[in-house]
Amino acid sequence: MCGIVGYIGKRKAYPVLINGLKRLEYRGYDSAGVALLNDDNELNVYKTKGKVSDLEAYTEDKDVSGTVGIAHTRWATHGEPNTANAHPHISSSGNLAIIHNGIIENYATLKRRLMEKGVEFKSNTDTEVLIQLIEYIQSTKNLDLLTAVRMALHTVIGAYAIAVIDKRNPDQIIAARKSSPLVVGIGEDEFFLGSDASPIIEYTKKVIYLDDKDIAIIHRGEEVKVVDFYNEEMKHDVTEVALDLAQIEKGGYPHFMLKEIFEQPDCLMDCMSGRVNVEANNVVLSAVIDHREQLVNARRFIIVACGTSWHAAQIGKQLLEDICKVPCEVEYASEFRYRNPVINNTDVVIAISQSGETADTLAAVELAKEKGAFIYGICNAIGSSIPRATHTGSYIHVGPEIGVASTKAFTGQVTVLTMLALALGKERGTIDEQKYKDLIKELYDIPEKMKELLKQCDAIRDISQIFTYARNFLYLGRGYNYPVALEGALKLKEISYIHAEGYPAAEMKHGPIALIDEEMPVVVIATKNVLYEKVLSNIQEIKARRARVIALVNEGDETIKRMADMVIELPHTMECLEPLLATIPLQLLAYFIAVCKGKDVDQPRNLAKSVTVE
Ligand code: M6R
Repeated sequence: MCGIVGYIGKRKAYPVLINGLKRLEYRGYDSAGVALLNDDNELNVYKTKGKVSDLEAYTEDKDVSGTVGIAHTRWATHGEPNTANAHPHISSSGNLAIIHNGIIENYATLKRRLMEKGVEFKSNTDTEVLIQLIEYIQSTKNLDLLTAVRMALHTVIGAYAIAVIDKRNPDQIIAARKSSPLVVGIGEDEFFLGSDASPIIEYTKKVIYLDDKDIAIIHRGEEVKVVDFYNEEMKHDVTEVALDLAQIEKGGYPHFMLKEIFEQPDCLMDCMSGRVNVEANNVVLSAVIDHREQLVNARRFIIVACGTSWHAAQIGKQLLEDICKVPCEVEYASEFRYRNPVINNTDVVIAISQSGETADTLAAVELAKEKGAFIYGICNAIGSSIPRATHTGSYIHVGPEIGVASTKAFTGQVTVLTMLALALGKERGTIDEQKYKDLIKELYDIPEKMKELLKQCDAIRDISQIFTYARNFLYLGRGYNYPVALEGALKLKEISYIHAEGYPAAEMKHGPIALIDEEMPVVVIATKNVLYEKVLSNIQEIKARRARVIALVNEGDETIKRMADMVIELPHTMECLEPLLATIPLQLLAYFIAVCKGKDVDQPRNLAKSVTVE
């Protein structure tokens, strides 16, 4: 979703802002822009539809001087993606410029009122309404910028992270947030602003994460001051970001997605580090130690999540019910938040989110908290909004995920869910000693098995090339592998734009079989578990309708090799851990099909990395 960058200090602002926008490209956007205050205190605003590189080309012959500026990548919500709607937006007088992430929900009413007062608008955006409102308040009441921003924010309803500059006060940026993340970077005599830390870390590791309803006054030569909407000073610790530049670069891979697929063995080792101990035969999660009573005595788990995280939740449900014998429900956060769910104080709500910023998941957390549930978060982005809103949780520690299509976050989430189920199952006495021991050992061996599996990358690329013609795909799996089928289908849809559906294999006969003919490739996850024979019958039914079958089988499965058109072999593991392996070839399959079709794998059309608006 939209990206924000700001700079004030001793360097030329333009290169810092452009560099920062490039770091935020992964969030998904359709236009980009920059506002700079030059040494004569003139406000220069440049914006274009398209990529940051288009903005660079556009500004080639323009004045990009100045040491203060704000810049933005826009993901269209109000008004189509075009230059007029791109940010920054300027006020009628040309004195103020704003960039904004989020949505001003009452913008139409505010706009009407401002138009009645004679204010003219140049765009269709809610953001322009906000800057015009700030200017209207400032000019009619003769206020300084901070007071005008505070008063305007009392009037607007919605979610936002904003940065505002005023050419009459060129040494200052005012930034504010509500339900949309914003980070201030603190360097030597310079300050940075970002919608996350990625545009900042190559300059400084010191940051302040703003909280909801914080307003930061970033003034050249002074300490950053943070106040609330009532001008009460808010104290904030300066935190050190544990993020390396190498982690947010491609490191020799053609795409972030491929890099992130290949990082998974190491990521899972990091995720398990200090938590899984094979020698001592135990799994330790600090959250389970610190909040033993609430977690061990949970009468029900409810997992809330969106997209890929929701697929991980489906695996988590099976793990928690199998191992801990506690009922578990999985909900789309967007549905949960609006359907007035029944929640008891003996419920534990688990919120899963890679970004930790997904608006629906955050709202679901707030709702569950209000209703008295204990909240446990499973997130990746350290210090993001969801971990800060939960009672406790476990980070997945897989490092920044830049590719819009989630890969390593999924396997990290499943790993944390497995560790959680093991730790709680042990405490509750619902898992027998031998199974506990076997699972710990198997879980620990998964990264090595993933490495073996990744050696089939070239073979999977060859298979992918055959299927670029396809317009539809079906993915089938059962039990623990049903969510894997859903995830495989989502990956293909997101990056190749081929329509794909995931189904529990047995459901095929209840409808989807009508679609099967020689044009429809079917991916079947057919590992040798308790439902193997049944999946075998499904493959026969598909072959009888002349569709091509790509089967994911266990090493040495000769039976399916004879039936399927192509097979991808998976190392053996315990059934509940199979998703950690079976997902990898499906990620690669989607990746190579998208590459063969020439698609923008890391930034697929219309998608945003973190969905911070509803
Ligand atoms: O950051 P989150 O895990 O909360 O994001 C949830 C979904 O938006 C996300 O998983 C989305 O479906 C991805 N594009 C999947 O690849």
